[in-house]
Parts: sequence; structure tokens; C-alpha cells
Amino acid sequence: MKKVYVGMSADLIHPGHINIIKEAAKLGKVTVGLLTDKAIASYKRLPFLTYEQRKTVIEQIKGVSDVIPQFTLDYSSNLREIKPDYVVHGDDWGSGVQAGTRQKVIETLNEWGGKLIEVPYTPSISSTQLHNDLKAIGTTPNIRLRTLGRLIAAKPFVRVLEVHNGLTGLIVENLKIEQDGVVREFDCMWSSSLTDSTAKGKPDIEVVDMTSRMATVNSIFEVTTKPLILDADTGGRPEHFAFTVKSLERLGISAVIIEDKIGLKKNSLLGTEVPQTQDAIENFCNKIRVGKEAQISSDFMIIARIESLILGKGLDDALKRAEAYIEAGADSIMIHSKKKEPGEIFEFCRQYNELSDRVPLVLIPSSYNKVYEDELVHAGAKIIIYANHMLRSAYPAMLRVAKSILRYGRSSECDEECMPINELLDLIPGTR
Ligand code: SPV
Ligand code: MG
Repeated sequence: MKKVYVGMSADLIHPGHINIIKEAAKLGKVTVGLLTDKAIASYKRLPFLTYEQRKTVIEQIKGVSDVIPQFTLDYSSNLREIKPDYVVHGDDWGSGVQAGTRQKVIETLNEWGGKLIEVPYTPSISSTQLHNDLKAIGTTPNIRLRTLGRLIAAKPFVRVLEVHNGLTGLIVENLKIEQDGVVREFDCMWSSSLTDSTAKGKPDIEVVDMTSRMATVNSIFEVTTKPLILDADTGGRPEHFAFTVKSLERLGISAVIIEDKIGLKKNSLLGTEVPQTQDAIENFCNKIRVGKEAQISSDFMIIARIESLILGKGLDDALKRAEAYIEAGADSIMIHSKKKEPGEIFEFCRQYNELSDRVPLVLIPSSYNKVYEDELVHAGAKIIIYANHMLRSAYPAMLRVAKSILRYGRSSECDEECMPINELLDLIPGTR
């Protein structure tokens, strides 16, 4: 019997997939190379279903003999192992992201005289359309909460952008650009204490209470499906933090970041310009432990944020704290710096990477913003947060327009700066 190989993601199985398997089965014994989450996330969004769930489904489909993992978008290592007579694929991969993969499949098959068979694409149904429909339906708190962990496991790093209302949430949800054959997008949202407070016209001193912070998140969650990390400032008293953790989980928030300060919290980017007090290591470890004990799901993450560099306490203190916080149960560490140059961050990373029990590292490159993502990832970052950019870009634009109206006594002069009304009316589906 001839050997046939079919590579697929098999996330939302539809008649197009069944058709390909049916055609493949006519040629011989079908092995499905099921793309792992990592392989899929290397060129497009994370699948809805986990690898194991997708495997359970595809194994049961008539005509499939075997399911093996395909660890990369590139087929060659699986093909060389199996040496199939045929690879069967839809005929829709000749251009775009997968064109290079297709070419390599042809070349690899040539090594032993195998052939690529392309089955006409099934019109009127596509995974992309199903995906969009599913997005429109929404998500559940559990599914959303779990997604951050899956992203950490599947992606080289998780790209996070600040949001402070439904509209900014929609930017993270929908914006995509294609670059070098890879779709780039933001993976996750950040609810910043600085921008949520500022958007409410209040200072970033924990005066916007958790109920109000969660109301913001709730309105963002009404119109999005991507995961969110919440900046919970100091987390408050341990006794209160236990309740906060449960509330955040219930909403479907994936992770909370708490910083190791006490007393009147001021924004970190003020550094030592204002009095700020760091918590004792033992106290903060206790808060982490209380939070971990309070959480209900195993997926929720508590991220411990170290303020030593911000407060001029030095690298050794930062590293000592990282070790202690991990020992106390922190699922991830965030190290912050307000320096323009990334030197101290890179030095922290270098020494952090030598710890044996390290957890994923979060960086917020607000001030050291000349550094590219690639360099931060190379240094060891797993989560990169652009912490305030939606609010910072919106406010100057609004101010310019408001000033222009005052100056000219009409709005015609600032029309260029404004989104056309028709575009606005088309922005949110259902408006017309
Ligand atoms: C925030 O965005 O509120 C933060 C990050 O905590 S920073 O403003 O840099 O302190
Ligand atoms: Mg903050």
C-alpha cells in the first residue's frame, strides 16, 4: 500500500478537510502530520483547540490511519522520516505565507520520487471565515483565562498592548499586519493602572479601586476574545489580595501583576523623584503565597514585579528578590527599569537566566524603547508589554483637535486630523 502524508492544523474541521482526507485515502494509507500549537503559532494565530483535543478529533476521521505531530510549519523532517509516496494538500497554498513551505515539500519529495497532489480548494467554506464567526460569538472566561499559558508555551514571546476601553481592546483584537510572510499581531491586552486611572482623570496611586478597574476590564471583555494581564499595583493587603485573585479569575483575566511596594504607591516611572517604599521580601512573599492559595483554577498566573532597579536598590537586591518570589510561588517575574538605556535590564536578564528555577520573564520597555523585541527575547523576555501607548497617542491628538476648534470657531480646520464620519459609522459592526 502507498504511503500518503497530509499536514494540517485541523482546528475547526470542515468539509474542506474531509475532502482532502478522502482524496488522500484513495491513494493509500494516510498519516496526518498534525501541526503542534508552536508550529501553528509560528505563522498565524493560536488554534482554538489544544494539540491533544485536535488529535482526538482527527484520529476518529474515516480514512486517517495515523496521527503524528508536525513540530514546524516545514514538512521536511517528517517527510524524510516517513518517505511518503504522496503528500496531499489543498491547492490554496501556492502564494502567501505557505508558498515557501510548498516549494520545500516538492523538493524534499523529489529526493525519493514522491509526488505532491493538490486537491481543489473547497469553495464557500474556510477556516478564516469560521474563525471570524467564532470570534463574533465570543469566548468564555475559562477559555480566555487559559489562553495566556498556551501562548507562553507556543510563541517565542507574547506581545502585549495596553488597553483602557472597548475601542482600544478592539485594536488589539483585530489589528494584523503581514510581514515577511508572517502575520504579526498583539497576542494579549494589558490593563495598566496608569492609563486606566488617567483615562478616568485620576492619579495612578491606587485610588481607582478594584471594582472600578474590573468594570473597565468587563467592558473590554464584552467586545474581545484575547487574554488580558491586569496591573493590580501593590495588590493591597494580603487579606484583600486573596479576594482580588478570585474576582479576577471569575472574570477570565489570565494574570495579575503585583509590585513589591507598600504605602502610597506612585508610578514607577517617577523613580526616586517621589518617596516610594519597597516591601520587605518576607512580606511580599507572604502576599504571593496568599494569592496562590486563593486561586481556584490552575491556569491563573501571579506575576511578581520587582521595583529594586526603579528605587535604586541595585541588581543584587533585584536578583535576591526574584529568587525569593519564585520560591514563594510566583508564576512569572517582571523586572522594571526607568533607564533610557537597557544596560541594567540586560544585566539582570543575564544573571536571571542562570537561576535554576526561573519562570517566564516580563519586560516593559517604556523608557528603554530603542531596543527591538528580538533583542529583548534574545535576552530572555517571554512577555513584552507596551504599557501605555494607546492612551499616550490618543490624548495629544484629541488636544490638538480641541484647540483647533477653539482657535477657529469651527471644526473644518481639524477635519484632516479626524476620522471621516463614514469610517466611524463602519468601524463597529451593527452601527448601520
Ligand atoms: C502601568 O502601566 O501602570 C505600569 C507600568 O505599572 S509603569 O507605568 O511603567 O509603571
Ligand atoms: Mg501601574
